Amino acid sequence: MRLYINVDHVATVRQARRTDEPDPVAAAALCEQAGADGITMHLREDRRHIQDDDILAMAEKVTTALNLELAAAPDIVTLATEIKPHHATIVPERREEITTEGGLNLGVGGQTDARLVDAIAVLSDAGILISLFIGPDLETIDRAAELGVPAVELHTGEYANSYLRSDEPLERLRLASSHAKEIGLAVHAGHGLTYRNVQPVAAIPEVEELNIGHSIVSHSIIVGIEAAVREMRSLVDSAR
Ligand code: PXP
Repeated sequence: MRLYINVDHVATVRQARRTDEPDPVAAAALCEQAGADGITMHLREDRRHIQDDDILAMAEKVTTALNLELAAAPDIVTLATEIKPHHATIVPERREEITTEGGLNLGVGGQTDARLVDAIAVLSDAGILISLFIGPDLETIDRAAELGVPAVELHTGEYANSYLRSDEPLERLRLASSHAKEIGLAVHAGHGLTYRNVQPVAAIPEVEELNIGHSIVSHSIIVGIEAAVREMRSLVDSAR
């Protein structure tokens, strides 16, 4: 199981004052030392946390692997082809949302958005592995496979919001993971995962990568980022 740390919210604290600290690139280096397999960043169209310069610096400094989250916006797709992250996770974006609220709409039963189809073509021509961030829905997974991408990231937000009340979202994640793997897709998962709820998801055998941000960055304010990463690493590893 690969653990990727999303450092967007290190930049959120910096942008609160538009200053130069804390530095997400420095935070990423500490995450790597503490056992992260990779670093994730989301360059949003509204640039609310990560900035273009962060991406350029991170691409140079990361010693593990960089997962760039991006919307299918042509200018950001072009930037991705220039910095060549190890993989790119295409996500939906709505300006008014607090965070990425749902998975991509792949147009099941109709046409897939042309911008998304173009983004997939451009990124894969640049040799970047593509993952599509989608809900744990079997038809959407089938459409992702038809679009020719090697991986999907299953949105764990519904599970994270209701795991204390219902087993159904976890069951949906399990079914979705085994279906995706069966049809040849690599399975990643993330969103809303915390120290309390991560283990049942980490225990799903088909899931090979977790992307976790807010909970780790929050905990790092109390215990420091290396300790926060080590704690999550040990929960994830012991769930397997
Ligand atoms: N995976 C994807 C595709 C995301 O968009 C995000 C949020 O940026 C995450 C994982 C991390 O979510 P969280 O910050 O809730 O751990």
